[in-house]
Amino acid sequence: FMVDKGNRRHFMEKEIHEQPEVISHTLANYLDFVGGVSKPLDLPFDFAKIDRLAISACGTAYLAGLIGKYWFERYARLPVDIDVASEFRYREMPLSANDAAFFISQSGETADTLASLRYCRKAGMKIGALVNVRESTMARESDVVLPTLAGPEIGVASTKAFTCQLSVLASLAVRAGVARGTISREQEKTFVRELSEAPRYANQVLKLDHQIEKIARDLAHYKNVLYLGRDTNFPLAMEGALKLKEISYIHAEGYAAGELKHGPIALIDENMPVIVIAPHDRIFEKTVSNMQEVAARGGKIILITDSKGAALASVKTMETIVLPDVPEIISPIIYALPIQMLAYFTAVFMGTDVDQPRNLAKSVTVE
Ligand code: AGP
Repeated sequence: FMVDKGNRRHFMEKEIHEQPEVISHTLANYLDFVGGVSKPLDLPFDFAKIDRLAISACGTAYLAGLIGKYWFERYARLPVDIDVASEFRYREMPLSANDAAFFISQSGETADTLASLRYCRKAGMKIGALVNVRESTMARESDVVLPTLAGPEIGVASTKAFTCQLSVLASLAVRAGVARGTISREQEKTFVRELSEAPRYANQVLKLDHQIEKIARDLAHYKNVLYLGRDTNFPLAMEGALKLKEISYIHAEGYAAGELKHGPIALIDENMPVIVIAPHDRIFEKTVSNMQEVAARGGKIILITDSKGAALASVKTMETIVLPDVPEIISPIIYALPIQMLAYFTAVFMGTDVDQPRNLAKSVTVE
């Protein structure tokens, strides 16, 4: 069927704005909001009986998987191996037929991810495919399809598929935690309620577009940008950098904030904006000291945080984007939005072809 941009300038902009709705659809596929429970899934394996979960994917889907690792390990105490698919398929890791493997892909056709899927199938593993395209090869070749209900994503830069992948992974982590006895009935209810609030918070964040557009106007003047975050904000830092480089062609790197001292700090000067993704979480204070190190070297900080974080960050920032205070489990879903918007507006100011950036294909079907 026909997909058009509606009244938006680009598909990417439209897809960013669709997120509250598609996140809601996706979550409703996995969670019973009324009953406060995660829905039973027809899985070919039992979360309680596997020792490990292997996840592989490429690009943005890989970064969703990396956030999934934090969730499965934290909430379900289920160890996760996560690899970019192009490494996974060749690095000869030991695989057990008793374990499960998840493959994450918007298109369901990415060559390396598909090859990894087939490699795990050969090893006798149970296969789950988190795909957005239901009629894709990965969907056909898996034991269970765990769909993202993002609808067609046209912009080469993945936005709504990413937050829907996160929605599925968070829901599955809750399900796994219940199965493995690490999440009580009470906690499950709380998680389901918190997840159900994600679309509402996402809507609030979209309203920050004027501030984010203004920041992007400045950002477009720089040649390099560094993104920092800890915990689930580390993969988000890498996603922010990936998004910025692919559509604005500005060089960007995403680092774990704790790694700053181990190399990237050498780059910091007044020509280096540093985007710090730091809600007021369990390790916020650690990130504040990283910001102080950046500030002391003249680096320009753009802080993405919540109201508590903004009040407690004892450092001078160039800009602070204040998001609503959100529960920990939905934080990566909500914090994905400002980094997408920042990349989008920066690319618009750079005058690039936002939906079809040079050298890139929407679906990479060759190795
Ligand atoms: C994301 O913005 C990229 N264009 C790219 O990294 C993409 O996520 C990757 O190629 C994976 O594609 P898939 O989800 O269709 O497998």
